[in-house]
Amino acid sequence: MQNKPQGWPGITWIEGRTLLQVPNVKGQGEWRIGPAKKSDSPVFHNVAMANNRTRSVLLLGLAIRERWLLKEGKLRVLDGLAASSLRSRRWLNELPEELVEKLEIISVDRNRESVNWALANHKKYPPENSNHEQLSIQEGDLRQIVYSGGWQWIDIDPYGSPIPFLDSAMQNLARKAILQVSATDTAALCGTYPQVTRRRYAAYAVNDTVTHDTAIRILLGNIALCAAKHERSIEPLMSVFDGHHTRVSVLVTPGKKNASNVYENIGWRVNSPDKNTITTSIKAGLHSFGCADYPQPRVFLPYNSPPKSLANGKVSGPLWTGPIAKKQVLEHLTEDYALETCGICKDDHKHLISLANWKDEDIRMSNKKVISCVKRLHQSKDAVETNGLVTMDELPQWINIDGPPSPKKLISAINQRGFKAAVSVISTPAIQTDIPWNELIKIVKDINDVIAK
Ligand SMILES: C[S@@+](CC[C@H](N)C(=O)[O-])C[C@H]1O[C@@H](n2cnc3c(N)ncnc32)[C@H](O)[C@@H]1O
Repeated sequence: MQNKPQGWPGITWIEGRTLLQVPNVKGQGEWRIGPAKKSDSPVFHNVAMANNRTRSVLLLGLAIRERWLLKEGKLRVLDGLAASSLRSRRWLNELPEELVEKLEIISVDRNRESVNWALANHKKYPPENSNHEQLSIQEGDLRQIVYSGGWQWIDIDPYGSPIPFLDSAMQNLARKAILQVSATDTAALCGTYPQVTRRRYAAYAVNDTVTHDTAIRILLGNIALCAAKHERSIEPLMSVFDGHHTRVSVLVTPGKKNASNVYENIGWRVNSPDKNTITTSIKAGLHSFGCADYPQPRVFLPYNSPPKSLANGKVSGPLWTGPIAKKQVLEHLTEDYALETCGICKDDHKHLISLANWKDEDIRMSNKKVISCVKRLHQSKDAVETNGLVTMDELPQWINIDGPPSPKKLISAINQRGFKAAVSVISTPAIQTDIPWNELIKIVKDINDVIAK
């Protein structure tokens, strides 16, 4: 039987288009970043993770609509570290009725107070588009509950590293499944604490201007190798580094052959490579910048051609060297789709706006967040399959120019020459492109000359 949650009913808040009660402590139910400490709140609700949950709603909606996982029948979904179960409640509440009817969700948390808050919220605000029973909220350990198996979708959203949960989740996925994984131990993934990076992720990570991309790739590399051990392979669908966390979503499919080929997408990132290293990368098809004679910021090397020295502060890896997202998925992630699914409209959602006593400014902030969580992902779509990554601020180090170019101007100029280019999803201004380095130099210099005139 459900106990009354400690501090219930707290205050009323809306995330996406879903109402919830949150504990009345600082950082809850306001537009600032979550509780200061985990212990400040009886249930963990982090406002800063709203974008993470919104993307989850959007991706699940696409997976059902586009039938990526099942042609018919219901999707078995596990919200593995659920806290307030807001993610599950948002799936049920915000996706259209015809999609939601395909869901059977279990949300799990081992913290009893979290479960109490989740149950009370689910009872107070039953989902509008679906049956209340489609979500079963359970107290327990993800690593036990996951063993019932056959999950088409597992969400792993831990405090810190997802590594303790990966193996059991991987073993218990259905034949075709999506695994969504967050990591908030970004200091480890970005190489701030090299020993922790080595111990936890069996990797080196250089803490440089592209460290967020490196973090995403180290996490993907670990997931890919875990999948391979269980005779499965992954295809990244969407990856972000957002504020204090990294989040990747991968399609997992079975098959020994693809699992054995995992090392085709695992390798090394070498900074300031010498000519031989650039040549090796070009020969392996991992360096579209080409031009081994020109000094360049970085290259990928295949796993089976490791750099001579690993501990010289220039090498990151092993990491995922393939695309970190799938173009066809990013194409769907438009601002319109995000707003249609998770946005609030003053006329259509009067009831929830009045319950939360929201002002126009709150609605504006909420919709702005919904848009922002897909904006850069969608913009990155045209070059997501390329492997040339360069940050704007580092260009003056490599090319004799006065200051960094605007990414927008650079992308447009590269596109005009017939090459692919788009913003990168990392938060530092950066682009992904397949233009050769000598051509890039010319374009960057031209832009610089125009500005200088
Ligand atoms: C970062 S919070 C999850 C936030 C939540 N996914 C959301 O979107 O709001 C991590 C949660 O994992 C729970 N947890 C930690 N270890 C667990 C385990 N082994 N099994 C189930 N829950 C666990 C904690 O109690 C905590 O509520």
